[in-house]
Amino acid sequence: MTLISAPVLNDRCFAKLATKVHALTGITIKPERRAMLEGRLMKRLRTLKLPDFESYIQYINSTTDEHEAFVNTVTTNETYFYRTPRIWEYISTDFLNDWHTQNKGKTLNIWSAASSTGEEAHTIGVLMQAFKDSHLGFDYRITGTDIDSSVIQRASTGLYNGRSIERFRNEKPELFARYMVGDDTDGYKVAKHIKQNIQFKYFNLFKPTAVDLSYSLILLRNVLIYFTREDQELVLRTVHKRLNTTGVLIIGESESLYNLSSDFVTINPTIYKHKNTALGAKAA
Ligand SMILES: C[S@@+](CC[C@H](N)C(=O)[O-])C[C@H]1O[C@@H](n2cnc3c(N)ncnc32)[C@H](O)[C@@H]1O
Repeated sequence: MTLISAPVLNDRCFAKLATKVHALTGITIKPERRAMLEGRLMKRLRTLKLPDFESYIQYINSTTDEHEAFVNTVTTNETYFYRTPRIWEYISTDFLNDWHTQNKGKTLNIWSAASSTGEEAHTIGVLMQAFKDSHLGFDYRITGTDIDSSVIQRASTGLYNGRSIERFRNEKPELFARYMVGDDTDGYKVAKHIKQNIQFKYFNLFKPTAVDLSYSLILLRNVLIYFTREDQELVLRTVHKRLNTTGVLIIGESESLYNLSSDFVTINPTIYKHKNTALGAKAA
């Protein structure tokens, strides 16, 4: 009996694929993540009926048709509602009170800049709606963007269950009961009047289009960790252009701009503002 062994991702193929990942997404895959890359791409090999990684590399280099599936396979999309409660407390209180006082009658524009399956953008939606319901004249729009087309699709549907909503339901039961619609069998969505203020679209942080809108609040959470220091600085320049001069940038709890060259200064851990603006001096 002949045993057919599974294809192995050798050093040479790993280096070529890691270079391709970087070229398409800006993500740097370190050698210690080789098994992860191998496991994920094995599924593509099976789907495409390719015998080994060498053939896959030839295929991906011969057609851009595979790029979307490749990118969707290599991104890490871990997320859930109400991730890092401290941030949401800050947004619901200090940030919103300051912004509303200074911008009566205006619409608050928010960008979830690596939105994955949309839990972050929908959490913002619930908090904004709760504020709107008690502050006449306040309104908001939320844009979620990602490089992975499959998560954009899921975010647009916005149906959640299990671990995705668990923390939010436990920590904010009143908000959950008031603004989430559905049940444990079919899943939950944010209420329709919240959903209509949220849109999701494709955006590669390394291939920015012209600045069409600037935001007062940008969440760039748990994505910088996948980039080299140099690439992080590039992304921060793109984000800086899109943040209002009095706006606030929030990054992930395991991330920091300390030691990076950027035009942001810290207000609180993981919360930043433009250099040389008045906002934040109070909170600092
Ligand atoms: C771990 S998730 C973070 C989700 C959410 N922000 C959170 O903190 O819960 C990282 C997301 O960044 C996206 N991403 C990676 N590289 C990107 C790029 N160059 N441009 C836009 N999004 C990117 C991935 O597709 C993934 O969905």
